Amino acid sequence: MVKINKFLSFIRIILKNPSLVNLILNSRIEAENKFKEYYTPIVALPQIDIEELSYEVPGTIESFLLDGSSLITDLQLLVTIAGRKEVNSYLEIGTWRGESVHNVAKLIDDCTTINLSKKEMLSMGWNPKYVEQHGILSGKNPKILHLDANTKTFDFSSLNKKYDLIFIDGDHSYEMVLHDTKKVFEHLVHEHSIVVWHDYAYNPQNIRYEVFRAILDGTGKENHPYLYHPKNTMCAIFIKNKLPVSVFDEMNIPERLFQIEIKQQPFSKNPL
Ligand SMILES: C[S@@+](CC[C@H](N)C(=O)[O-])C[C@H]1O[C@@H](n2cnc3c(N)ncnc32)[C@H](O)[C@@H]1O
Repeated sequence: MVKINKFLSFIRIILKNPSLVNLILNSRIEAENKFKEYYTPIVALPQIDIEELSYEVPGTIESFLLDGSSLITDLQLLVTIAGRKEVNSYLEIGTWRGESVHNVAKLIDDCTTINLSKKEMLSMGWNPKYVEQHGILSGKNPKILHLDANTKTFDFSSLNKKYDLIFIDGDHSYEMVLHDTKKVFEHLVHEHSIVVWHDYAYNPQNIRYEVFRAILDGTGKENHPYLYHPKNTMCAIFIKNKLPVSVFDEMNIPERLFQIEIKQQPFSKNPL
């Protein structure tokens, strides 16, 4: 009886506000079910240690440590790759406050970012205070070319260039991660390019299955053997090296303890 009553009140709520159905359709459970439908028996990417990507893992990272900031280890991953001697150009899809490209630009002189224009964001009804914060950390850096564009309509071939490191961190819906990934692999990668996706996971132990599915669909089966999940990050990485891996287990007992020395300094707004 309790179950029937619950079901009836559920129907009443949905009838009053049909858009609540989206909460179910976009739920984590539904995303995981859909993933399993297509990709069973795959459950996660194999994991690697960040040290596998470079002998020198940089110690200093700058971050606002706010909502929307990447994890310190995500930024550490990007900077570690940026420190490889053969990595000299960087393309980023999705630049909010500019923390990721700001850190990378300390090591790479040739950085390009693609982000929606402020006009387009405002026309979509986004909070003006959110919009205003785009590029506050990266905007005035002469090493960084900020392109205003919607990747949905952007002509990627117009860049006429291949990049050593590409970071996909724009719209995280299945459709847009798929779109951005396909465009990147079609137009921007060379034989040794490294591609990193943010939000492969909600946190280092919880996979975001709609993004994972888009990465697998967008890269194509032939590239799946080169996909990894760097431990302690929310990222997935494509690198055409065979690296030592371990199996993902969200209940693993932690194997390392990070020491983080925190320093802070005042920051004054420096918009695009
Ligand atoms: C999670 S934030 C990126 C954070 C960034 N890595 C940083 O450190 O600033 C995602 C960004 O993607 C942008 N974005 C969303 N959809 C986009 C699209 N279709 N084309 C270009 N940029 C988009 C948003 O404006 C937002 O700034």
